[in-house]
Amino acid sequence: MAQNGGIILLLCATFSVLAMVGAEDPYRFFEWNVTYGDIYPLGVRQQGILINGQFPGPDIYSVTNDNLIINVHNSLPEPFLISWNGVQQRRNSFEDGVYGTTCPIPPGKNFTYILQVKDQIGSFFYFPSLAFHKAAGGFGGIRILSRPRIPVPFPDPAGDYTILIGDWYTHNHNTLKAILDRGRRLPFPDGILINGRGANAASFTVERGKTYRLRISNVGLQNSLNFRIQGHKMTLVEVEGTHTLQTSYSSLDVHVGQSYSVLVTADQAAKDYYIAVSSRFTEKVLTSSAVLHYSNSVSPVSGPLPGGPTTQIDYSLNQARSIRTNLTASGPRPNPQGSYHYGLINITRTIKLGNTAGQVNGKQRYAVNSVSFIPADTPLKLADYFKIGGVFRIGSIPDQPSGKKMYLDTSVMGADFRAFVEIVFENRESIIQSWHLDGYSFWVVGMNGGVWTPASRNQYNLRDAVSRCTTQVYPKSWTAVYIALDNVGMWNLRTEFWARQYLGQQFYLRVYSPVGSIRDEYPIPKNALLCGRAAGRKTRSL
Ligand SMILES: *[C@@H]1O[C@H](CO)[C@@H](O)[C@H](O)[C@H]1NC(C)=O
Ligand SMILES: *[C@@H]1O[C@H](CO)[C@@H](O)[C@H](O)[C@H]1NC(C)=O
Ligand SMILES: *[C@@H]1O[C@H](CO)[C@@H](O)[C@H](O)[C@H]1NC(C)=O
Ligand SMILES: *[C@@H]1O[C@H](CO)[C@@H](O)[C@H](O)[C@H]1NC(C)=O
Repeated sequence: MAQNGGIILLLCATFSVLAMVGAEDPYRFFEWNVTYGDIYPLGVRQQGILINGQFPGPDIYSVTNDNLIINVHNSLPEPFLISWNGVQQRRNSFEDGVYGTTCPIPPGKNFTYILQVKDQIGSFFYFPSLAFHKAAGGFGGIRILSRPRIPVPFPDPAGDYTILIGDWYTHNHNTLKAILDRGRRLPFPDGILINGRGANAASFTVERGKTYRLRISNVGLQNSLNFRIQGHKMTLVEVEGTHTLQTSYSSLDVHVGQSYSVLVTADQAAKDYYIAVSSRFTEKVLTSSAVLHYSNSVSPVSGPLPGGPTTQIDYSLNQARSIRTNLTASGPRPNPQGSYHYGLINITRTIKLGNTAGQVNGKQRYAVNSVSFIPADTPLKLADYFKIGGVFRIGSIPDQPSGKKMYLDTSVMGADFRAFVEIVFENRESIIQSWHLDGYSFWVVGMNGGVWTPASRNQYNLRDAVSRCTTQVYPKSWTAVYIALDNVGMWNLRTEFWARQYLGQQFYLRVYSPVGSIRDEYPIPKNALLCGRAAGRKTRSL
């Protein structure tokens, strides 16, 4: 149905820039034109970022191991980049589309991303990573289906819907960016959008008796959102590429940057039902709604919106802990997800990351272990590749909170290829955090209130924790994750709270192998844009 956006599926490998992708796997070609256009999501006219005229942008449909060739034409009057939240870009951080890895596409120019959704399944999204473009749109869903012979642990749904939810400002994104550039905090958002639309404007049609998959991603700027459907239960089946134990929920907390798949059976009387989305852990609660429409519906939505959870952190924490991997289900490969025993591997390093808010030179900033990230004049990955000195320093962020006063730096943490790392996110602030790592998924082994100590490891789930790419950290709480560093590259570790990311709560993890083999990392793509101090260098041709 939504196979729009100029997709051509080919089974050949003659396109000249494709040297390093899996040549035996299918290709999907996309031509995207990024423009500004008028949108009215909350009833007032705004300047939105459209992809091929659409807001939100077109969904990317793919199957495990597909090569995605996405030619992005930047028709904005300013530089632009797209990043792929949760797509791992194995051996290929050059294509990650954040400013630490990839040069911005200049206005009027184009750049062809060459991605492979290698060994992945699941629900993700893409978004514009530069400036404060994310507040104007430019995002869309990504789905990676299992290959035909690999069993999926539930019957084929009758329909499969992308539902992008997120908080939203009626301010222009340049106005928001200017507020941040002046060192001020953003005001509270104005509303919540569901697939780019305000109250009851988005509708999802179902046939009575059938079961549907909903892929819900929080593409917003900061708020955790609760998702629920009047009169219907949801069965959770997938979280960012992991098939979960199929558990029934009446509402689901989706933190900013996260993606979930649920199954919903249209098993109620034939009418229309509210889908409600509301902000969590906020004093003022924003709420919006969409419509679950039975095809033979005899009446429109009615009654009050279904209420959200009334308890705050405990409900959410208990729900998070109840989300487990189905160890016997297949993931992207036919072997069961439980065949990799992450809980038996010895940790080679523990990294503790503490987030703080503060001021530097009288301006609002945010930091990780006291370092507030500032971009360099050259993408770090390119500086690394061309061995251009003076752009960044490995070790410019410590492994532990230092208690030092906040300072600015282009923070890069070094890490060894094949290390098995424990990261403890320590949140001493009184607001919830959401952390994301590009290039990887990690096992969320534990979370709890208070301060993490080594004894906290006794509470870890070392058996069936979910492997995902974005995790929440509750207020004055910690979350611990395990990561197998099996993907060489320069990877962005960031908050998904977008104003905080913009003002420094991020850094890059440089996963390094001294071997320098293309088995571990692809060379720079031939079409790579070169900027900053990398301008004019030669990309090696293969
Ligand atoms: C992109 O869209 C704009 C506005 O419709 C149009 O002027 C431009 O030619 C398009 N560019 C491409 C590469 O399709
Ligand atoms: C720009 O698009 C053209 C086709 O429209 C393509 O041949 C070229 O490779 C693209 N440039 C980059 C840098 O990807
Ligand atoms: C786990 O996956 C298997 C398929 O391997 C499926 O039969 C079973 O119902 C799933 N169990 C739960 C609790 O989701
Ligand atoms: C982990 O470490 C323990 C003791 O330090 C050792 O006995 C064990 O063999 C190690 N396990 C693995 C899988 O390397």
